[in-house]
Amino acid sequence: MSKISIRNAVKKYGDTTVIPDLSLEIGDGELFTLLGPSGCGKTTLLRMIAGFNSIEGGDIHFNDTRINDIDPSKRNIGMVFQNYAIFPHLSVRDNVSFGLKNRKTDKQKLKEETDKYLNLMQIMQYADRMPNQLSGGQQQRIALARALVITPDVLLMDEPLSNLDAKLRLEMRSVIRHTQKSVGITTVYVTHDQEEAMAISDKIAVMKDGVVQHIGTPRDIYQRPENVFVATFIGRTNIVPAQTVRGAVCFSDGYQEKIPALEGIEDQPVLCSIRPEEFVICKSGTEGIRGKVKEFTYLGLNTHYYIDTDEGTVEIIEESSIEDELKEGQTVLLKVKKEKINVFDQSGSVNLVRSGAYEKQQ
Ligand SMILES: Nc1ncnc2c1ncn2[C@@H]1O[C@H](COP(=O)(O)OP(=O)(O)OP(=O)(O)O)[C@@H](O)[C@H]1O
Ligand SMILES: [Mg+2]
Repeated sequence: MSKISIRNAVKKYGDTTVIPDLSLEIGDGELFTLLGPSGCGKTTLLRMIAGFNSIEGGDIHFNDTRINDIDPSKRNIGMVFQNYAIFPHLSVRDNVSFGLKNRKTDKQKLKEETDKYLNLMQIMQYADRMPNQLSGGQQQRIALARALVITPDVLLMDEPLSNLDAKLRLEMRSVIRHTQKSVGITTVYVTHDQEEAMAISDKIAVMKDGVVQHIGTPRDIYQRPENVFVATFIGRTNIVPAQTVRGAVCFSDGYQEKIPALEGIEDQPVLCSIRPEEFVICKSGTEGIRGKVKEFTYLGLNTHYYIDTDEGTVEIIEESSIEDELKEGQTVLLKVKKEKINVFDQSGSVNLVRSGAYEKQQ
C-alpha cells in the first residue's frame, strides 16, 4: 500500500504546457478521483503516475520512493481502462492470472490467488469462458480482477465505466467501491461524471485546464466549493449577483440576509451560488427576491420550478406540497437558505464563506 505525493508536477507536449504546476497528496487506502471537463488533463496526470508519460518538472513519490524515473513495470501498479483491455484470446481465468504468471508465481499460489479474485469479483462461474462470451460489465470485472490479483500498491482507473449502460454503471460503481475498500488499495480514479465521482470517492480533485481547483470530500466540494467553476461543475446551481453590506448579502429588491461568515469582510459586489434546493418560495410576505413562475414540472416527490427574476431565470426544486400548486404567471417572493448558499467575490475565484463558520464545525 502506498500514499502518493505529487509535488509541482509539470507536463508538456512539445511546446504546449498541459499541466503547469500541480500538487496533491493521496492518502494510503484512499479512493481519490480526478474530475473535470474533457481535455483538462486527467488522463495525462494518471499516465504520469503510471509512468507512461514523461514528467517535465516536479516529483511524484509513492511513500518515500521517488518514482519519476522508475520504469512503469517496476512501479507495482494495477490499471483498468475504459476499453477493458483484456486479452480476447485468453479465457477469463487466464486473463485474471496473467500478471501472476508473468511474475513466475508458483502453481499453488497462482491458483489460490486467481480463485480469490474470481470469487471477489463474482465471475467464478465464467472462469472457463472466453471474454467475447461475456457482457461489458462482466468484462470490466475481469479487468478489475486482473489488476488486483498482483496486489499492486496503487490502482489506477481511467473512466472504467464509460462504456457501460446506465444501469450497469450504477451496479459497477458499488462493486468498485466495495472492492476497493475490502482490498484497501490506494486508488486514483478518473471520470468526467460528477455524480459518479460523488458516489464513490473519499476525496475529489476538481481540475480545469491542468490546474486543480478544489480538493475535498464530496460533501465539502458540493457544500462549500472553492470557486464559481467548482460550484457550477458539481451539481446544479444558480449564480445570482448581489452586494455585501456589513456582513449581509443584499439582493436586488432590497432583500437581504445576514451571513455570519461574511462579518468583517469588506463591502463588495459578489456572486451568490444558490442551488435549486437552497431557495424557499413564498406566496406572500414582504421580503424576498421578486419573481414570476415561468413554468413548473411535477415529479412526484419534488416539483421543479423555473422562476423569472430581475437577475434572470432561476431553477428551484421544492418538495411537492399536498395542497394547491403555484400557477404559471403567479408572483412569488424567493428567500434563500442563508446557511447553505455560497458567496464569491466578483471574479468568482474566492469563496468568501469558506473560511468562516462552516469549516470550524468540521
Ligand atoms: N500525446 C499528446 N500529444 C499532444 N497533446 C496531448 C497528448 N495527449 C493529450 N494531449 C492534450 O492534453 C490535454 C489533456 O488531455 P487529457 O487526455 O489528459 O484530457 P482528459 O482530461 O483525460 O480528457 P477526457 O475527459 O476527454 O478523457 C488536451 O488538450 C489534449 O489535447
Ligand atoms: Mg481522459
